[in-house]
Amino acid sequence: MHYLDNAATSWPKPEAVYTKMDSAFRHLFSPKRGTAKAARLGASQLDEARGLVASILKVKNPQRICFMGGATHALNAAILAFPLAEGDAIVMSAIEHHAVSRPIRKVSRDKGVRFHVVPYTDTNPFDLSAFEALLKSDPKIRLVATTHASNVLGSVLPIGEIGALCKKYGKTYLVDAAQTAGVLPIDVDAFNIDMIAIPGHKSLYGPPGVGALFIREGVPLQTFMEGGTGGDSGRHELPPTTPDGFEVGTIPLPQILALAEGIRWVKSTGLDAIHDAEMRLLARLLDGLKSIQKLTIYGHTNLQLKTPVVSFNVAGHAPKALGEQLFDEFGIALRAGFHCAPMAHEAVGSAPLGGTVRASIGFTTKDEDVDALLAALTKITR
Ligand SMILES: Cc1ncc(COP(=O)(O)O)c(C=O)c1O
Repeated sequence: MHYLDNAATSWPKPEAVYTKMDSAFRHLFSPKRGTAKAARLGASQLDEARGLVASILKVKNPQRICFMGGATHALNAAILAFPLAEGDAIVMSAIEHHAVSRPIRKVSRDKGVRFHVVPYTDTNPFDLSAFEALLKSDPKIRLVATTHASNVLGSVLPIGEIGALCKKYGKTYLVDAAQTAGVLPIDVDAFNIDMIAIPGHKSLYGPPGVGALFIREGVPLQTFMEGGTGGDSGRHELPPTTPDGFEVGTIPLPQILALAEGIRWVKSTGLDAIHDAEMRLLARLLDGLKSIQKLTIYGHTNLQLKTPVVSFNVAGHAPKALGEQLFDEFGIALRAGFHCAPMAHEAVGSAPLGGTVRASIGFTTKDEDVDALLAALTKITR
């Protein structure tokens, strides 16, 4: 199999991630639940894992990191439990994943909160002037939520500039880093980020079922789920303090510790080394795709502002059918359709076609994988 679906989930994982998942599941217990030594060992390793997540986001206080079930869980917590009243407004980009846009639409339906969408063009995926004009014209905007990079197009948004404007106008800024944690450097203070959601199973090379939310001190986020934390069990109410107030129920310790192994691997390999290797293959892929007849690439192809994700269509081929053909006849695993982000397809015009075919590169992708896709497309379009 030629695996080109790393934007969905990275595969394979570093060996240490599989080993840790197995050993933590066998030998460690979730902290704060019992007196066994296995629970105390679990607690100290949990602290280390929290520190590792904090380090990749440049968060100074690891206690502001809350482990959750994935980026979707973290984004739902950040949007649905943010204090908003009827008439308040949220801003999002025009290329959001459902994990951001659906909670926003729900808040809008349930609470009468309005939302604005910042205009997109291929060369300017997030129009900063239009954004600032919005911030000036609507004083009821309370929350700004954007992706760091599109999971459909790979386009990177200027989160530093967005964060600076949020700070200037006193708005809370939430970032969806599902496509960039482990791909691009992130610094919550330098970028003025108030909350950021990360997944475990993509470019941090951890397992599914775990992610995290950073919540800056002072952000008035309420608890999202009620339940036990194992600590302070005599109290009837759950205070919204980090991390306990956002980690209710028995936490998935094996997943968290396996994610920590993934982060250790990313740090020891080096973000720059990973990025350079992936960008070299992205350039190879884009060059090859540009020479294939009847093929349209969506979004811009500026490598400086792109993650290793490419969406394309071939005239006369429905994306779903083409994706299936690529796997069935050529063993190429990728994703076709809307990729849980119909807004991005509306922005680039691929929605009426049923979306796009998406190829995405990871650290284990090889030249042969890229070349296999190019050869298959050349054969199909001949
Ligand atoms: C941009 C973006 N946001 C959010 C998510 C959801 O992440 P998770 O699978 O961790 O819930 C994804 C996953 O595909 C994504 O690509």
